Amino acid sequence: MPAPNIDTIVSLAKRRGFVFPSSEVYGGLGSAWDYGPLGVELCNNVKQEWWRWIVYERDDIEGVDSSIILNRLVWQYSGHEATFHDPLVDCRDCKTRLRADKLELPVEATGSDVADLIRQKRVKCPNCESTDLTEPRAFNMMFRTTLGAAAVEDDPTALAYLRPETAQGIFINFLNVQTAMRRKVPFGIAQIGKSFRNEVTPGNFILRTREFEQMEMEYFVKPDAEHLKLVDEWVEHYLEWFKGLGIRSDNLQLHEVPPDELAHYSKRTVDIMYRYFPERPEEPRQWEELMGIAYRTDFDLRSHSSKAVDEEGARLNPDSTEDLSYFDEATKQRFYPHVIEPAAGVNRTVLAVLMDAYSEKTNDKGEMRVILKLSPKLAPIKAAILPLAKNKPEIVGMAKAIKRSLQPVLRAVYDDTGGIGKLYARQDEIGTPFCVTVDHQSLEDEAVTVRDRDTWEQDRIKVGDLAEHLQNRLKE
Ligand code: GAP
Repeated sequence: MPAPNIDTIVSLAKRRGFVFPSSEVYGGLGSAWDYGPLGVELCNNVKQEWWRWIVYERDDIEGVDSSIILNRLVWQYSGHEATFHDPLVDCRDCKTRLRADKLELPVEATGSDVADLIRQKRVKCPNCESTDLTEPRAFNMMFRTTLGAAAVEDDPTALAYLRPETAQGIFINFLNVQTAMRRKVPFGIAQIGKSFRNEVTPGNFILRTREFEQMEMEYFVKPDAEHLKLVDEWVEHYLEWFKGLGIRSDNLQLHEVPPDELAHYSKRTVDIMYRYFPERPEEPRQWEELMGIAYRTDFDLRSHSSKAVDEEGARLNPDSTEDLSYFDEATKQRFYPHVIEPAAGVNRTVLAVLMDAYSEKTNDKGEMRVILKLSPKLAPIKAAILPLAKNKPEIVGMAKAIKRSLQPVLRAVYDDTGGIGKLYARQDEIGTPFCVTVDHQSLEDEAVTVRDRDTWEQDRIKVGDLAEHLQNRLKE
């Protein structure tokens, strides 16, 4: 049974140190969240799993870590300055700010047809039901900043942006990576990092925030590659990867983005959706994007290239000093590689993982317990070492020594801040796969009890075999 709604996870996340509302001492900051001691471990484990899977386990992908603030021209030629907009609508009555493309409409409509429906007062504000809405206007979502100590606010030469996607840092480094690593197309470049979007309607906990983290990979192929098939292949790879993180397949679904909703760079995009809103009665409203896989053509490499020309032969980019084309030694042909881009969010993956891991179980006293059945590879803590009697120095000493001996091979903690029942419950709720209990008998037989989070079954294991035993079971 996954979490019944996001709110269940919000409360667990705060209570147990995964995610806190940001800037709480000043009343918070709309839709900003801070990751606590367990949240940072979970995020790191998701990112490490992804990096291992996409960079280490394949032979055709390199990693980079590019700057968050890039030359403004990157965003001019990528098309983000001109087109990275959300259509903004205001309710004149309750002053709620809305996204035109997310409004509930009386008939199916997009673009200027939505404006017509608003003008005809046929669209209601979801907050107060008023039909007095402003017409949609374009709002650029990139955060602006100014560079340099002397820069004044409106100096256009000092204008810069916080990146709204990590992808552009990859495109502008395509040739650097390809030459330095002596790569031949096809190959990919992966990056994990923060991105920033001034979202009109952020919300739903860590699902839509203005600062978030992406795991993106640009896979460069020949222009005549079977692009659409490659999109499907990456969709399949990712479905398997998400399932390997413990996400149930019936909570995953595909969405083929309709042509009129494609981003300016995309010829085809398939979104992998997760059931973030199981409580909603209408099934289609239960789903939200977890990640997208796009066929970006050669749009980005051509846009950033000094020699690329349009149909009339005019240079696309008079500012670029580099040509990002690729010379194929085998065919002696020069071309701009095409790109398949799987783009996933760290925070949305973490939320899906938490929701899917959530479960409840009743103990033999009839008390309800929360168990976070996280995949062991993602669990923030792998083993908790618990002394049965905290007033017995020999037991405490042995438990602390076991914790220290395990730490080099797996993340372990020592806890004696409650009775054993409470300690078990706390570890179950944060997803720790194993509790190791040191008792009076341990002093005699040099053995401890290993309790399984999901079954609550216990095994007696010799201290000398403990590290190997836990490592093997964590791999199961
Ligand atoms: N380079 C392509 C790109 O950025 P996107 O669909 O806009 O594509 C990719 O973003 C992923 O980044 C999304 O599927 C989502 O997981 C994550 N993401 C995007 N905007 C987000 C936001 N405001 N808050 C949290 N995650 C976000």
